[in-house]
Amino acid sequence: MSATERMDAIRQQIKACKNCPLYRGRKNAVPGEGPYDAKLMCIGEGPGFHENEQGKPFVGQAGKFLDELLAASGLKREEVFITNVVKCRPPSNRDPEPQELAACRNYLDEQIELINPKVIVTLGRFSMGRFIDGGRISQIHGRAHEIGGRIVVTMYHPAAALHQPALKGALLNDFAQLKVLLNRQEPPEAPALPEMPEKDQPEAEQLSLF
Ligand code: URA
Ligand code: SF4
Repeated sequence: MSATERMDAIRQQIKACKNCPLYRGRKNAVPGEGPYDAKLMCIGEGPGFHENEQGKPFVGQAGKFLDELLAASGLKREEVFITNVVKCRPPSNRDPEPQELAACRNYLDEQIELINPKVIVTLGRFSMGRFIDGGRISQIHGRAHEIGGRIVVTMYHPAAALHQPALKGALLNDFAQLKVLLNRQEPPEAPALPEMPEKDQPEAEQLSLF
């Protein structure tokens, strides 16, 4: 199976999944969206009201702000794979339970493995908790961690800034820093070999080992 076929298969599995009680309240599961070869993957918490209605991640108010944040790092939403730690909406947007996070974990693991993003951005503490034990978001927001050969940047959740406007500036600033990080991640261009002047070029026989 190609990577695209495997990603499509994961989508279908998620849509039919009954591994945890969250399936009961869903209208639409939200597997995630974006290019399968995205450089950046953003991982949120779980679908809210609008996401459950549409089956797409971050389409409500927090999603609008996420678009703004991505623009601050020089990216369009279409270039980024966006998903969540749980793929079905928790009732009344409550926090996901540990057993729900555990039940849904494999889907995210497979998505990360297949997309193989250079940088992962975690949005909020549940997504952060997937990579880091006991971190405090107020202390480590915007920080880049090297985890399993990948860069994981821990960010505040965009919805947090909708409730606490003081966080908006921190988020915008952290996403602007991400731009530097994403560009630094580019493999260095091989330096062009300087052209040697004619007289310095070795004779053919000098190159020969025999
Ligand atoms: N909040 C999330 O964490 N994820 C979404 O998809 C939407 C809002
Ligand atoms: Fe399955 Fe995840 Fe939905 Fe639970 S939240 S039913 S584990 S897809």
